[in-house]
Amino acid sequence: MDRNEAVLRELKLYPLWQRRGESALIETAAEAVHSVSSDPSGKSSSLSIGPSKAESQVAGDSVMREECAVDVPTGRADQSREQHIGELDWPQLKAMVRDCTACGLRAGCTQTVFGTGDEQAEWLFVGEGPGADEDAQGEPFVGQAGKLLDNMLLAIKLRRGKDVYIANIVKCRPPDNRTPEADEIATCLPYLQRQIELTRPKLIVALGKTAATALLGREALLGSLRGTLHEYRGIPLVVTYHPAYLLRSPMEKAKAWQDLCFAVRARHGEA
Ligand code: URA
Repeated sequence: MDRNEAVLRELKLYPLWQRRGESALIETAAEAVHSVSSDPSGKSSSLSIGPSKAESQVAGDSVMREECAVDVPTGRADQSREQHIGELDWPQLKAMVRDCTACGLRAGCTQTVFGTGDEQAEWLFVGEGPGADEDAQGEPFVGQAGKLLDNMLLAIKLRRGKDVYIANIVKCRPPDNRTPEADEIATCLPYLQRQIELTRPKLIVALGKTAATALLGREALLGSLRGTLHEYRGIPLVVTYHPAYLLRSPMEKAKAWQDLCFAVRARHGEA
């Protein structure tokens, strides 16, 4: 099996199918996959096809979040703190996040996980919060869900670090990978808000219900948020499934692919 086929299989897109009007995107994905196959970094060689034991473990740990209800953040966070964060530059923001003990999460994690990628990226992907691997390495989406996210990026010709920034709603790992509480989200959200202001992405992709709820400020079934162009403070935002959920429910990868196609159209002002 060549890498092209491997990536498409990973996304449950093989053999190729297409919706009317998506032929160009399918070609884009195939080209992306093809160009990755000659990637000297060899990143694509870490593709795993079908859920491994480790993937199932990840899914068992965090995918349940997808079905969990999340309270809408109340916005009770101290306004002067928010104002202060809103004036920070990148180094100041990183330092403040590194030293943050504003909520109880910091006591239970190894380190804060700030975010990673191109600080001028047009694409911003937002997850929920660090898991065990991210807590250990200090970078978002480095575990099995992260590998799938990397493949999702490759399918639309994107690559971590190049025109892509990846961040989470909360910067500290919640104990036992539970869903962050509303007050933890409200306390941490100003950091992401500032990251967004500094990056000024052209499109935000909310990965999963926690990210969607926090950024949209309202709770809804994830399925009902897909396929619609939302907005976060004037920036177009699309919603798709969390990669950890996709590891648990691989049949949903086809829907994630639809969402990625929608995101590409949105990015080009065609959604
Ligand atoms: N899940 C998330 O939401 N974020 C990460 O960084 C890793 C897993």
